[in-house]
Amino acid sequence: MAAKTLRELFVEEVRDMYDGEKQLTRALPKMAKAAGADELQVAFKNHLAETEKQVTRLEQVFRTLGETARGKSCEGIRGIVEEGKRAMEELDGAVLDAALIAGAQKVEHYEIASYGTLAYFAELLGEDKAKELLGQTLEEEKAANDKLTQIAKSRVNREALLNPPDEQSSPSSRRARGRSGRSSKKK
Ligand SMILES: [Fe+2]
Ligand SMILES: [Fe+2]
Repeated sequence: MAAKTLRELFVEEVRDMYDGEKQLTRALPKMAKAAGADELQVAFKNHLAETEKQVTRLEQVFRTLGETARGKSCEGIRGIVEEGKRAMEELDGAVLDAALIAGAQKVEHYEIASYGTLAYFAELLGEDKAKELLGQTLEEEKAANDKLTQIAKSRVNREALLNPPDEQSSPSSRRARGRSGRSSKKK
């Protein structure tokens, strides 16, 4: 890492999240499509809309800092997204939903850690406007994580536990989609 000062480190880390959020704007539509439970689809779509705003908000942060809006490959989020892709190829039904929630919550925790740190760095550096913007995103990430916990606990994981794939009764659209969508998902 080339950063030598806290300010340089701060800007590097903003760039990391700028790339991370952009990766998520590409991953979330695929996750929404793969999700079987309606409430999970809705949660992913809602968070996609929020994520798009977060990308714009980071551009505002760059502006307030007088820096160019430029991303730096975020390997942390890339790794979690890759694991999610594998789950979409290999799993089906309620178990896939449980895996999608698990992956999405890993992302949210990564984001909560990153934005928490960034908001604090902004405070230390006296960048009040940046602190405010980063704090807004931090709150959205926490809310997204809480929503996923709520979905997991309310239904989805219990369904995965109680209905192993072989015993899922009706030829539900979810399973049909899981099968037919398989080849198209392997991109
Ligand atoms: Fe985000
Ligand atoms: Fe998020």
